Amino acid sequence: MHQRILVTGGAGFIGCNFVRHLLAHTDAAVTVLDKLTYAASPPALEGLPEDRLRLVVGDVADASVVDPLVAEHDAVVHLAAESHNDNALRDPAPFVHTNLVGTFTVLEAVRKADVRLHHVSTDEVYGDLALDDPQRFTEDTPYDPSSPYSATKAGSDHLVRAWVRSFGVRATISCCSNNYGPWQHVEKFVPRQITNLLDGRRPRLYGAGDNIRDWIHVDDHSSALLTILERGRIGETYLVGADGERSNLEMVQLILRLMGRDPDDFDHVADRAGHDVRYAIETGHLRNALGWLPTYGDLEAGLAQTIAWYTDHEDWWRPHKAATEAAYAAKGQ
Ligand code: NAD
Ligand code: DAU
Repeated sequence: MHQRILVTGGAGFIGCNFVRHLLAHTDAAVTVLDKLTYAASPPALEGLPEDRLRLVVGDVADASVVDPLVAEHDAVVHLAAESHNDNALRDPAPFVHTNLVGTFTVLEAVRKADVRLHHVSTDEVYGDLALDDPQRFTEDTPYDPSSPYSATKAGSDHLVRAWVRSFGVRATISCCSNNYGPWQHVEKFVPRQITNLLDGRRPRLYGAGDNIRDWIHVDDHSSALLTILERGRIGETYLVGADGERSNLEMVQLILRLMGRDPDDFDHVADRAGHDVRYAIETGHLRNALGWLPTYGDLEAGLAQTIAWYTDHEDWWRPHKAATEAAYAAKGQ
């Protein structure tokens, strides 16, 4: 078991939930390295045990920060990234910097200090599936990213694989499907629709709403990350998902129903350029090899809990809402 864990991007949505999971389920001391971009939530790290949690503000692509910090730790869980597809379509430059150069910087640091690495990636590296394709993504699906965001994530995975093979770096990779839960920025689909409804706006569906995503509660992603960090086989990639395939239209109508609204109370808006059609995860490998199981079997219950969280945390999301909606409105979304 690792006693000193460095979490890059630990002030972001998945990062802060994972840090909370680590503090609750291990004895480890945790350091967060985070640049505190617009996507970070420092309040999500408040009220946690101060003797076990340290926040270092810095750029994951800055070797002068990363090298000495990594050397102080037994393991690194690398989540720091630019994560939003719509932002990558507006300006891909920060995605190349953080997702590619940042991962390169982490790899060089763990190589020099011989520190265990878990690299957090996405199912989007596999491209997309047709709506009627009976297959799901597996660990053997060829990489075929289609967006600027997913291309940088795929590139970062290739760097990790090359550093394992060429330099013997002790790394694992996980590719997870779409997360939902507390502390997710209001730019993302689920919190955007929930906060629109709380704010007196209508949900916004890109195109016809046929596109399918495979939803997983962020706590289940956290437990999978810890399982892989503790018991994953070096050099292996694990897919993480929870059998949560829904079309975007189904998700909007589920949120509307859970919030007591009419099923037609939403707007169709301009589609995303190059919009990936469907993601679907086959998770047998992770379940069979490491015995991991999701605990949120019921997407509806997880969403109801998430709606309650956003209802109770308006002070957290409110400052980001107007600017986020203004940026979408400028693109007809
Ligand atoms: P997020 O955008 O909510 O958080 C990203 C965090 O990284 C922020 O705190 C930000 O300040 C930090 N960061 C950005 N650039 C940085 C830099 N140069 N140096 C240091 N810190 C920097 O993202 P998220 O949704 O929590 O995603 C976390 C990771 O999980 C990403 O690697 C993402 O690709 C991956 N992932 C996300 C999902 C999802 O559904 N959200 C699914 C699968 C994988
Ligand atoms: O699959 C994992 C990926 O999931 C992660 O790697 C990404 O970091 C994460 O952002 C997410 O990517 P998506 O692009 O799938 O998520 P997003 O929340 O942006 O959109 C989900 C779906 O909803 C997508 O088909 C686009 C659509 N959408 C999105 C928004 C913001 C809408 O219909 N309306 C909206 O307002």
